[in-house]
Amino acid sequence: MSRKTKLISSPSSFIGIDGDGYISFGSGQPDLPPPREIFRNLEDRRLFRYGLIQGEIKLRQALAKEYPNARPEDFVITNGASEALDLVFRAIRQMHGRVKVLLCQPYYYSYPPLVELAGLIPVYTRLKEGRIDIEDFRKKVRGVKAVLINSPSNPTGRIEAIPTLHEIEAITQKLGVYVISDEVYKDLIYVRGNYLIKGRHVITVNSFSKTYSMCGLRIGYLWARDRKIVDRAIDIKVHTSMNTNTLAQEMALRAMDVPQSFVDRQTKIWRERRDFICDGLANLGFSLWKPEGAFYVLPKIKDSGRVVSELFYKHKVITYDGAWFGAPGRIRLSYALDVEKIKEGLARIGTYLKGKENWLV
Ligand SMILES: Cc1ncc(COP(=O)(O)O)c(C=O)c1O
Repeated sequence: MSRKTKLISSPSSFIGIDGDGYISFGSGQPDLPPPREIFRNLEDRRLFRYGLIQGEIKLRQALAKEYPNARPEDFVITNGASEALDLVFRAIRQMHGRVKVLLCQPYYYSYPPLVELAGLIPVYTRLKEGRIDIEDFRKKVRGVKAVLINSPSNPTGRIEAIPTLHEIEAITQKLGVYVISDEVYKDLIYVRGNYLIKGRHVITVNSFSKTYSMCGLRIGYLWARDRKIVDRAIDIKVHTSMNTNTLAQEMALRAMDVPQSFVDRQTKIWRERRDFICDGLANLGFSLWKPEGAFYVLPKIKDSGRVVSELFYKHKVITYDGAWFGAPGRIRLSYALDVEKIKEGLARIGTYLKGKENWLV
């Protein structure tokens, strides 16, 4: 590989790159606008002062109404789901020491570093056709203190079958293992409604980034049924980020007021794009799992690292290497971009692949 096509080794080289002729299938950032209602009358001076570390009470009250048997005091509002995950792992570390956390592979690329930064040990169960292999899960869950479930999944776009989720609830309940359920794509499911994982040891993590196209505002939350996790998370957060942006919390509160039709309209658009990109990739000869939620597809290709670098340097197309998600030999494409751009991006990928058809294993 020439100097110009030096291997790109992390998504940080791509996040935020826009315009200048690039087609980005990279970052999982919705291109659709947030609800208009969130921008009105934001002059309130209260919004510019330090706020409660746990999060604004009105937002926690609104969230408690969204979830069954939830109480406002069991939520912590965070800087996106990212901070919620970070706080949960650090709280577990403080309470239980250097324990193991079971991750599903392929995984969202931040999971292993977040687990390790907290001083915990990641262990892995391999997904089968993009979904949890319950046999393997049953074996691996023994000996871990927490499992992380992400359905719909980034990067596979697959959802877990409800019986699988029931079984996870039962095993973890029996073993006293925490289930951290990353639900950031729960509103973006194409094939059924979401199933919320239940249980005493469940910690639900969610965010306003994807459902309401509010990524940059950095609003997420954790909801733990175990009060000790909530208290630890607040104790840690007071020394790290302090309160989550109060102005953005106010905007999140308003977003919760918009009718469900807003979310339904967005999901319809994602589904149309999903169909468009899957057909396009299949026509190019790619083999892939059809996504059932979120906005990612993870087709197979040989030498995925080289493909990602060459597509970027030679064709101005951004894709992510499956290796970053624990899935070498695949590339991840986000379809959070309009159909015209998807079409152009696919055409460029088609040009790149001429004569390389045998790479499409
Ligand atoms: C599975 C998953 N969890 C968490 C996050 C982080 O989201 P947030 O913007 O809420 O920090 C992402 C972002 O892409 C994600 O895909």
